[in-house]
Amino acid sequence: MKSLFYSRFFILLPWVLIVIIVIDIDTKRSSVRNTANFYLSRLGNAPRPDRAVRTTSAVNRTALPVIYAVTPTYTRAVQKAELTRLANTFRQVPRFHWIVVEDSSAHTELVSRFLARAGVQSTHLHVFTPRRFKRNGMPRATEQRNAALGWLRGHRSLNDAGVVFFADDDNTYSLELFEEMRSTRRVSVWPVGLVGGRRYERPIVEQGKVVGWYTGWRADRPFAIDMAGFAVNLKVILDNPRALFKRRGAKPGMQESDFLKQITKVEDLEPKAHNCTQVLVWHTRTEKVNLGNEPKRHLDSVFIEV
Ligand SMILES: *[C@@H]1O[C@H](CO)[C@@H](O)[C@H](O)[C@H]1NC(C)=O
Ligand SMILES: *[C@@H]1O[C@H](CO)[C@@H](O)[C@H](O)[C@H]1NC(C)=O
Repeated sequence: MKSLFYSRFFILLPWVLIVIIVIDIDTKRSSVRNTANFYLSRLGNAPRPDRAVRTTSAVNRTALPVIYAVTPTYTRAVQKAELTRLANTFRQVPRFHWIVVEDSSAHTELVSRFLARAGVQSTHLHVFTPRRFKRNGMPRATEQRNAALGWLRGHRSLNDAGVVFFADDDNTYSLELFEEMRSTRRVSVWPVGLVGGRRYERPIVEQGKVVGWYTGWRADRPFAIDMAGFAVNLKVILDNPRALFKRRGAKPGMQESDFLKQITKVEDLEPKAHNCTQVLVWHTRTEKVNLGNEPKRHLDSVFIEV
């Protein structure tokens, strides 16, 4: 028994040694390569070995259109948590400009402090929604999105290459989504996950053209799409200075359609995300928080921003 073990062991031993030596040579080689790259990159002309740098150095970053993400937001228990989730994504997107519009009569300290430390280039605006519009059955964040459009029209010109996207603070965004929308020539569209009472909604695409909508709610809308499902080239926003989100006569769920009607036609839409077959954004919605045990009066010995 013992001798069988030893004979097996000695047959295997040389093979094990050969494998160890090959692995060792291979790691030495790649470490020599990395060291060489390190010194060359210090001279300022070698491609650095990490992938992220290699992919972006091929593209001239300053030539990329800027993505302007418009986020309406309002004071509530989950606000800072939602904004943190968004900032953690947006911080990783090159050439990104975040337009945060508060529903308030002044900048709040929470959002000002948050943006100062978010590590994302941003513009902070505010506009108060009149109380008469804050009822159920009224579209939301109309004034805030229009304030952002007004800012873009006042501060950007046709020389600025950009893409405008409406990024509500209750969604989850993949990084790929931003690279898809960056090439938007006029208006681009893509699927949205967890929306309209379905796992996803999407534009139906045939031969590279949008021909209809897969949706659980009012497929008869001219553009049956969620706010997170489209992007608009900055030029289109500037060329159509009167295009706005409508308050008068607007119904919730019709805002997107009413806005897009002013700037494009269904047959001109540019399908993204593999002809609208990939979900790269989700309408996640944070659960309503339970503050049932929150004391009426401040009881803690310190004040903590949440
Ligand atoms: C990158 O693009 C910008 C704008 O198009 C241009 O001014 C600049 O010279 C380019 N830089 C390089 C290294 O090609
Ligand atoms: C989308 O569909 C068009 C037309 O069928 C095709 O030419 C194109 O390659 C498709 N794009 C992708 C990314 O699959």
